[in-house]
Amino acid sequence: MLGRPRIHVPECESTQLLLDTAFPEGAVATTDHQTAGRGRLGRTWVDAPGTALLCSVLLKPEHDRRAAELTLVGGLATAETIGHALGRPAQLKWPNDVLVDGRKVAGGVADLREGAVVLGIGVNVNQTTEQLPADARTAAASLRTIDGRVREIDRLLDDLLQALDAAYAVWLADGLPSLRPRIAALDFLRGREVTVDGTAGVAHGILGDGRLAVETPEGIVAVESGETHVLMS
Ligand code: BTN
Repeated sequence: MLGRPRIHVPECESTQLLLDTAFPEGAVATTDHQTAGRGRLGRTWVDAPGTALLCSVLLKPEHDRRAAELTLVGGLATAETIGHALGRPAQLKWPNDVLVDGRKVAGGVADLREGAVVLGIGVNVNQTTEQLPADARTAAASLRTIDGRVREIDRLLDDLLQALDAAYAVWLADGLPSLRPRIAALDFLRGREVTVDGTAGVAHGILGDGRLAVETPEGIVAVESGETHVLMS
């Protein structure tokens, strides 16, 4: 089970920096506040102290699979946990965002380090509207701004680690294709007009290797990674 050992510090730069690859698989680092939280593509992740779930998990898959796939596995577990907590579905915006009503409530990042993967997940839990970043690329929300409830962050962390543990076990045993139906059920981009990594078209689903299929006038293009812009209708 993921979550042992667990390192908790009241404050740190980033939980991504607290995990040594010499730790056993499943080690988890958490904090109440990050002073230099890291997002994907070199972005920052900001939190008001004590309001967010901020964690990093050390994974050591034996076979050589891509860190990008684990971002999706983490995204799926996060979206399902948030959906369960809210009692309504959250969506997964490829590759790493979790959205509710089009607003970002969580994000994940996977760092490849000496053959191990440090999977970082941040969830906006108890922020008020004023405590959320106003200038985010995708408008932000917290579970609290969505349903008015203040939650115990540790409890949500337990639920998230349980969901991640189960999804990771499926991925290890059968690969990403076996999680595809669950990912597809939460796919925010499918059918939307997008521009990603220079490719413009209609998102056509997430492939078994974690790439995003985009339908362009020239045919289906599989996109590896990049910044996704959505043409909202
Ligand atoms: C993103 O949306 O671009 C990914 C955000 C990931 C944020 C989490 S918070 C816990 C962990 N520590 C970090 O510095 N980043 C991840």
